[in-house]
This record gives sequence, C-alpha cells and structure tokens, in this order.
Amino acid sequence: MAQYLMSKDFGIAGLNLPHVSEEDKLRRVLSSALKSRLGNQIEFSNNSKNPYWNAAHFGLDKVKLFQDSRVEQQAEILRLCGENLLEEAYFVEKSGVGYMAKMVLLAETTEERMLYALFSSDEVTHLAQISQFLPEKEPIGTDNAFLRFLADLVETDDKTVLLFVLQVMLEGWGLSHYRNLAKGCLNPELSSIFEQFLQAESQHHAAGYTLFNQRQVTKESRATIVETLALFLQMVQVGPQSVVAAIEAVLGHLSRSQKIGLFEELDAETHSGTRLNLLRSLMRGEKAGTIVQELEERGAFQPFPAQKCV
Ligand SMILES: [Fe+2]
Ligand SMILES: [Fe+2]
Repeated sequence: MAQYLMSKDFGIAGLNLPHVSEEDKLRRVLSSALKSRLGNQIEFSNNSKNPYWNAAHFGLDKVKLFQDSRVEQQAEILRLCGENLLEEAYFVEKSGVGYMAKMVLLAETTEERMLYALFSSDEVTHLAQISQFLPEKEPIGTDNAFLRFLADLVETDDKTVLLFVLQVMLEGWGLSHYRNLAKGCLNPELSSIFEQFLQAESQHHAAGYTLFNQRQVTKESRATIVETLALFLQMVQVGPQSVVAAIEAVLGHLSRSQKIGLFEELDAETHSGTRLNLLRSLMRGEKAGTIVQELEERGAFQPFPAQKCV
C-alpha cells in the first residue's frame, strides 16, 4: 500500500520520477533491452558545442536586439532556445510512456491493449533517443506550463477526453512539431532521430482518431474537451514566449514595450496563426464538428497581437 501511494505521487506523466544510481545494475538490463530495439543508435556521443537549430529556426534572424548582441550572447540565446525544445520533447515522451501504459489498462479489446503496449514501448525508445542530446542528462521536474498542463490532462479518467485531446490533438500536433524540428536541425544525428519518430507518432494519432470516432461523446466529455482545448490553444495564441524568455535571460530585463517589439519582430501573430490553423485542421470528422464550432465561438483560434502576448 505504501509503495502504491508513493508511486502515485509521481503521477502518470512521471515528471518528477527519480532515476536509479549510476551503479545500479538495472541500468545494464535497460540498456541491453534498448539495444535490442535500437541497435547502436543509443550511443551517439554528444560533445557538440554548436547549437542544434540556427537563429532563423526561431525567427531570431529578424530580431534587432538579437542581431545587435555580442556573438557569445547570440550563442547563449540559441543554446537556451534549443535546450527548451529538447527538454520539452524529453518530458513529452516521458509522459507518453505513462499515458500509453494507462491506456493498456483502460483497453476494451485485445487489439487495443496490444496496440497501446506497443505504443508505450515506442515512447520509451523516443525517450532514450532524446536523452542522448540533453544538456542535463537526467532532468527531473519542470516549470514549463505546457508540460504541467499535459501532466494534469493524463490524470483524467474520461477516456473520450484522453483520446481526443491527447491522441488526436497533441499527437497530431507532435507530428508536425517533430517534422519541423527534424527539418531545421543542424545536427544530422538528432535530425534523423526526429525523422524516425514520425511513423510512430502518426500511428498514435491515427489510433486515437479511430477509437474516438467509435465512441459516443457525452455532453460532459464534450464540455471538458472544449475547456481543455481552450486552455491549450491559449498557450499557442500567446506566441513564442520561450524565445522571448531566452532573450531576457541572456540580455537582462526587458521593458514591456521592448517585449512588444520583440513579439512583433518575431511575427508572433502570423506564427501563432499558422499553428492554430494546423490545430483546427486536426479536428476533422463529424464528431469533432461541434467542438470546433464552440472553440471558434470563443475565438480560441485567433492569434494574439503582439501587445496581448506580453
Ligand atoms: Fe513519441
Ligand atoms: Fe506519441
């Protein structure tokens, strides 16, 4: 019982799940199990001091403050922006392992159970592959708002909500996010890892879409889906907050008007508009129709202008 309560504390997403010690024999068993799935792909050496994505990837090539800063400051901003992307991917994959395991237990057919167990293993390989490139090898805990949102979401017991928000929307979103990370990545090994994620992520999305469409969506589930997605879409509406935060972390305090200028130069409104359109396009099918409509009415697909991003 005590054990049960303890593991419960870490939640399904496991953002704070601890690691075993360096000498723990479990590491050897894990690494041989991973090797049988991934071959030598988990042995990349990661000594590169070069950033994984360039300034243009973050839209920083259009930002005056960035252009005017010293070369070391520019490098530091790019490093922080890249680290944010990697750490976010790491925790998303970690949450994915727990989420898929939860869905194994919630499965209503043998095939569904088989599929989710395979998916959980996909997320484990993704987690192991991303780990190679992290600045801090085994991070625990995060204050990233999206990850906290994700961790709350996976705790819900409403399977319809999980299928739609997590698998149809977030996995679908992840697919285009990873495609984008692969395309812009300067490190060929990391780029090919993101590329390899695509097939699995598209299966995760497709399974969610199929299972969601086989379900009766109750009024309560629909209301929760709309509330949850409104929260998620707002994180997209507010533009590239983490890029602005990275600039501020390196260059020091920025005034409100400087921040507005930054969001303008980053073309936040267009940037968010494109992402919001993509998210809307994931909500296809008859059952999603009323969800889209309710979100439209709330203006949830409208990107914020620069003044509102600050
Ligand atoms: Fe994944
Ligand atoms: Fe996934």
